[in-house]
Amino acid sequence: MSLTKERIGAAPQAGMSRAEQNVEKRRLRGKAKAPEMRGRGRGAAGGRVRLNADTIPILKRLFAYLGSGYMGMFVLAVVLMAVDALLTVRITLFIRELIDEYIKPILLMDQPYFGDLLKALIRTGIMAFFVAVTVFTNALLMRKISQGVIRKIRLEMFSKLQKLPVSYFDTHPYGDIMSRFTNDVDSMRQVLSQSIPQVLSSVVTIISVFVAMISLSLPLTGIVMVFVVLTYFLAIAIGGKSAAFFKQRQSALGEMNAFIEETMNGQKAVKVFCHEDEAEAEFGILNRTLREKTTSANIYGSIIGPVMANLGNVQYVVVAVFGGWLAISGRAGLSLGDIAAFLTLSRSFNRPVSQISQQINSVVMALAGAGRVFALMDEKPEIDEGQTVLVPVEEKDGALSECTSRTGSWAWKKADGELIPLRGDVRFEDVDFSYVPDKQILYDIKLYAKPGQKIAFVGSTGAGKTTITNLLNRFYELQDGRILYDGLDIKDIKKDDLRRSLGMVLQDVNLFTGTIADNIRYGRPDATDEEVVAAAKLANAHSFIEKLPEGYDTVISGTGSQLSQGQCQLLSIARCAVADPPVMILDEATSSVDTRTESLIQSAMDGIMGGRTTLVIAHRLSTVMNANAIMVLENGHIIERGDHDDLLEQKGRYYQLYTGNAASE
Ligand SMILES: Nc1ncnc2c1ncn2[C@@H]1O[C@H](COP(=O)(O)OP(=O)(O)OP(=O)(O)O)[C@@H](O)[C@H]1O
Ligand SMILES: [Mg+2]
Repeated sequence: MSLTKERIGAAPQAGMSRAEQNVEKRRLRGKAKAPEMRGRGRGAAGGRVRLNADTIPILKRLFAYLGSGYMGMFVLAVVLMAVDALLTVRITLFIRELIDEYIKPILLMDQPYFGDLLKALIRTGIMAFFVAVTVFTNALLMRKISQGVIRKIRLEMFSKLQKLPVSYFDTHPYGDIMSRFTNDVDSMRQVLSQSIPQVLSSVVTIISVFVAMISLSLPLTGIVMVFVVLTYFLAIAIGGKSAAFFKQRQSALGEMNAFIEETMNGQKAVKVFCHEDEAEAEFGILNRTLREKTTSANIYGSIIGPVMANLGNVQYVVVAVFGGWLAISGRAGLSLGDIAAFLTLSRSFNRPVSQISQQINSVVMALAGAGRVFALMDEKPEIDEGQTVLVPVEEKDGALSECTSRTGSWAWKKADGELIPLRGDVRFEDVDFSYVPDKQILYDIKLYAKPGQKIAFVGSTGAGKTTITNLLNRFYELQDGRILYDGLDIKDIKKDDLRRSLGMVLQDVNLFTGTIADNIRYGRPDATDEEVVAAAKLANAHSFIEKLPEGYDTVISGTGSQLSQGQCQLLSIARCAVADPPVMILDEATSSVDTRTESLIQSAMDGIMGGRTTLVIAHRLSTVMNANAIMVLENGHIIERGDHDDLLEQKGRYYQLYTGNAASE
């Protein structure tokens, strides 16, 4: 990352416009973030793309997917390809029979007899029909296999995504993860459904045509081989150039997409700061780069076809002249039919050779995508060695016993079967924490919240308030110290159960596409309609929901853009309330809402706090005045603690915050 800083911080080159400088920064940043595709790149243009030691394991892994569940189909497809190639050669050779065994004798007959010729034609027609059937079946099979494999890969990716620690998302831009799901997966699909079958079928064709040519004439085969070597190297040279530009085109496309996304998200900021012209200028540059790279890639891509075709024509002429000479001079014992058949065969020999050399480029490029997909799959999942689980219980004669259905009472069940009632007692003991090594965020945090207590955190922005709650949820692992929950170290509690017992209203509200009721029910999928409404009432959300066109059935989008910020917050409080957790974490959003909504949110929070242990992070001190204890945080240290009156008496930081003297400090 230090590389990023150096590059970003590098002095812009003289003579560059501001838009050009921005584009350059963007490009360098992207490069530092997304390491270049591994391959022996050459020069600034990225060089040729090649198969190397890094790509082989990826290819093997891709094949392993074929092996799991699709091997039978894949083998069948390969067999069909072989049948197809052999039949095609057989049909090509028919021209020899046609000339030597049917047409020539017929020409010599007084009364031509066409019966045998007709039979032979029907036989060949049937073979051609079979070829068509195998080609069709093959295409069908390969589509089925590739779609099946890709479906499996996507599923594995998504399920991996759910298991990754929060820190993964801190360090990987969403756009990058998204492009693994879309672009990279798609390139894998193309390899599976097109490149691999084409290479395999080309190999089979080459072998069978080669054998057939040798059986017809060794010297003529020699001539063809010279042309094959030429074709191969030309295709590799041109294809390599095209692939290098193709790679650049992909990254130019990525940059442009990222820019469009950013501009759309920040549309209001763009307008407010009148950056329209600048944004357009920047877009213009990105767009031009994309055009240049695409044009270059396409030029080289489209040269291949004509070059190969012309080379094929030259070869055709050379073989025809040389073959004709051999036949006329009677040296190689070649008949007219042999030469006609050979010429046709030689034509179908060049195509697969250039196809292979072209496909190898796209295979390697797709393997780069596959590498990124597999890298995501290989990420270390969140560690969860917790054994203690949350179970519903009932109390009979003063003793707890586990139940199978929800009772409203819960207990922690340790690995040895011991049941500890869920009370909501939270203790931090000497907790130290840093997100990244060498940059400590929290120092020696000690605090306790007894069941039902309200503990508040206040402090300037960046002090570490949200971080404390992230630790209780085990979004991140502690460096030192421990957190106890009902006397249990949270490391010993299964993460799912720990989180289930903690209600959380996050600082940034996340809603999902669906109805209002669905969004509230996100907190507890089996909540009844009555429970959903009750939760909404508790969260003061009921009255605005009722005014929506379809009430609880109103569909909202994931961004919640149809709702006001305050309404989104009320919904997220309702979502928390429906889960009815013993411990609540409320991270008040800094966004300014109007005073009426503020008091609504305030009373909603108070409403659901009743009887629960609550950790409240507040930016408005009115929220925390009634807390049992208030922790004042500064640079990761708790610098003051006590209730509102104590803190005011101390005349310290809290006093300054409360009386608004902070600025004059
Ligand atoms: N995911 C992260 N990776 C690295 N550093 C982080 C991360 N999240 C927060 N930080 C850093 O940790 C420090 C504390 O951040 P935190 O979000 O806990 O502050 P906060 O007190 O909640 O602030 P605010 O009042 O603005 O919400 C900040 O310096 C921040 O830059
Ligand atoms: Mg915060």
